[in-house]
Amino acid sequence: MATVVKEYPGATFVDAGDLLFDPKQNNTCIDRDKIGLLISTLKNLGVTGTVLSPFDNLELLSQNQMPVLGSEGLAYLQLAPNLKILIVQLPKEQLDKLELLPGVDLIIWGQAPGDAPLPPFKLNSSGPYVLTAGSQGQYLGVVEFDNIASKTNRPLKLDTREQDRERQRELIQARINALKTRPSNNFLASRIQLAQEELARLDAQIDEPLEGANMRFKTIAIKRDIKPDPQIAEQLKAYEKKLPQRLAACESSLKCPKLKPGAASYVGAETCKTCHAAAYEFWQKALVKVQAKTETGQIMERISGHSKAWKTLEDVNKTLDRNCIGCHSVGFMKPGGYCKAQQVDFRKNVQCESCHGAGSLHAQTGDKTKIQRAVLESQCRSCHHVPHIPTEQSFVYQEKLKVILGPGHGESLLLKLAK
Ligand code: HEC
Ligand code: HEC
Ligand code: HEC
Ligand code: HEC
Repeated sequence: MATVVKEYPGATFVDAGDLLFDPKQNNTCIDRDKIGLLISTLKNLGVTGTVLSPFDNLELLSQNQMPVLGSEGLAYLQLAPNLKILIVQLPKEQLDKLELLPGVDLIIWGQAPGDAPLPPFKLNSSGPYVLTAGSQGQYLGVVEFDNIASKTNRPLKLDTREQDRERQRELIQARINALKTRPSNNFLASRIQLAQEELARLDAQIDEPLEGANMRFKTIAIKRDIKPDPQIAEQLKAYEKKLPQRLAACESSLKCPKLKPGAASYVGAETCKTCHAAAYEFWQKALVKVQAKTETGQIMERISGHSKAWKTLEDVNKTLDRNCIGCHSVGFMKPGGYCKAQQVDFRKNVQCESCHGAGSLHAQTGDKTKIQRAVLESQCRSCHHVPHIPTEQSFVYQEKLKVILGPGHGESLLLKLAK
């Protein structure tokens, strides 16, 4: 984000709200440095301020002297004598019912549904334009103004010529792709050639400025392939280096859940494997292709599975994040499990005991009354819930069971499901 913001020197840079959005998070001891770095980075980039919403952690924001533009999800920003912007950090129902102060030229909405930006639309179809840049800091919205000095009382026009061209480009590209799937011949080749010329013409087009005051809007995806800003990247590295120490200090005063005398503890899948080799092998190989989204909202395929859940966290550098490890390992913050991030050890991944419960007593003798066989849907849903899955409906218990059951592991239930 820093890299992109720095491409717009002199711009007014605002955060549309929900900066520290989880009031329930109980890891503030550990997150203090992270939040400090986040806010100092925004300030380094010259942020004008943020908009407070009911979800913001006021104490942490003010501790770090984050400038605040407005509270209760609303902030007015006067950018020029005749240019008034309203930033809204409220859900759609409240946005629709807003009683606007006179003279609002546009609304920046920080709480649009979904991660990806919506196309600009007019408030209640005739009011000022509402611009959104997606959520979760995945996009930056950029508004550029022209001829503001000549602005009258009339609402600000939105110049959409670039977006219109983009849509045209997509249509032409789709046409080219379709033509390319057919067996080629001279006629098709000339049609492809013509379409490509059309694309080149679109690319070469330069817009004359529109008459009168107007604005242009675009969103920029903060993609992983954007070159990190060196200064900020260094600060991020310094933070990551300090994290294990900070974590240890914070966790030293942590109260870990106590194991009741006679209760089972977590022993890990390697122990189960000694008697359930076939189940172990199946669990290890139970990987499926799932659809995921890239930062730009494009659909991609990834391989998912319980036995690689820890690797998933490693890939995003989050193995020390207490907000993440609970569902990507076994026994975290459970009696007989582990409670300190750096002590994960043999408990990496979603393992046998994530579903069957702590198994030390059963593993000593193989006594089947000391282990839980059936796994209720609610057990799955303790991890498979929003926001970790797209919607609650996207986890269909019966269907998902078919992935985790197979030869050597619960095959009898699988056969029943197939009927
Ligand atoms: C010492 C060998 C041994 C170890 C280690 C062991 N099991 Fe078992 N397990 C058995 C035996 C024996 C049965 C009973 C098989 C039967 O009756 O069909 C069993 C049955 C089960 C059942 C089915 C229970 C039922 O009611 O049908 C589950 C689930 C299970 N084990 C899970 C685990 C898990 C999880 C671990 C690791 C924490 C584990 N086992 C470790 C020997 C073992
Ligand atoms: C301890 C948390 C946890 C529990 C309990 C759990 N899962 Fe998962 N599950 C995960 C995680 C994390 C992933 C993603 C693993 C990865 O690819 O990194 C996952 C992935 C999956 C996948 C593959 C991806 C997909 O969505 O198709 C299936 C299928 C699945 N789980 C089914 C189940 C079923 C069925 C249950 C209950 C019987 C269950 N899970 C219980 C955490 C859990
Ligand atoms: C409440 C349980 C839970 C917590 C907490 C959790 N995850 Fe997950 N995570 C899941 C489940 C379930 C899946 C599998 C989703 C699917 O494929 O349907 C998953 C999948 C993933 C994936 C792969 C899919 C994707 O979106 O790219 C990544 C990466 C991931 N988690 C990272 C994290 C990070 C980082 C954190 C901490 C900020 C975290 N998880 C916290 C349950 C959890
Ligand atoms: C995502 C949850 C989940 C995970 C992880 C899981 N199991 Fe299971 N397991 C189930 C379900 C569901 C059944 C079917 C229960 C039934 O028959 O009602 C089952 C059945 C079993 C059974 C009894 C049926 C049989 O085929 O013998 C054993 C034994 C067992 N699992 C062992 C293991 C071991 C060992 C591991 C780890 C290597 C493991 N399970 C991992 C959910 C899980």
